[in-house]
Amino acid sequence: MARNISPSLLAANFGELEADIRMINNSRAQWLHCDVMDGVFVPNISFGQPVISMISKISEKPLDVHLMIIEPEKHIDSFIEAGAKSITVHYEACRHLHRTIYQIKDKGILAGVTLNPHSPVHLLEEIITDVDLVLIMSVNPGFGGQKFIESSLNKISKLKELIERKNAKAEIQVDGGVTLENAPLLFRAGANNLVAGTTVFRSPDPVKTIDELLNA
Ligand code: DX5
Ligand code: ZN
Repeated sequence: MARNISPSLLAANFGELEADIRMINNSRAQWLHCDVMDGVFVPNISFGQPVISMISKISEKPLDVHLMIIEPEKHIDSFIEAGAKSITVHYEACRHLHRTIYQIKDKGILAGVTLNPHSPVHLLEEIITDVDLVLIMSVNPGFGGQKFIESSLNKISKLKELIERKNAKAEIQVDGGVTLENAPLLFRAGANNLVAGTTVFRSPDPVKTIDELLNA
């Protein structure tokens, strides 16, 4: 599956958001990752639909919206109206995950499920053929700039096995503590889609860093 880098805007300069989005437009990143936090599911609040809507007017990259909110089904339609091209919801936040995945897919965009570090891969056994994307959290969600949890590598391998065994088509995305050092290990374990916040936006040359991640 093609490699995909999705820079996380959470690490951008919010005072110069437009400049940072245009910089990503001029890079080889395929997606732009937007972290939505509600202060309930995760201990932090980020931004919501009005900001996503402005981002979508500037971004030439599809918006990859990671919902870290409870009851995501209440807000999916408005995030799609705001410009989301893929939405991932947390396994831990969905009472009726299958229904929520089809609520997203029926609107014609990509649907993904996210696993927190404590949630095992086998929980996805009965949903893996329905999703376009699985997001493995390699930190506890809520903040950028945290340290990569090493056991995530094993989870990626297990997920790859599950996808192959079920003849599923899901992409494997990894989010949290992704660096130039661990990117080759993540690709080798089976991930094809890396989210990177700090590594991209705190780099002296983010466009070059995106190239380096793609070639890692
Ligand atoms: C964490 C977010 C991540 C975060 C990643 O809850 O989901 O997308 O922005 O940031 P880094 O790459 O700095 O760990
Ligand atoms: Zn994220």
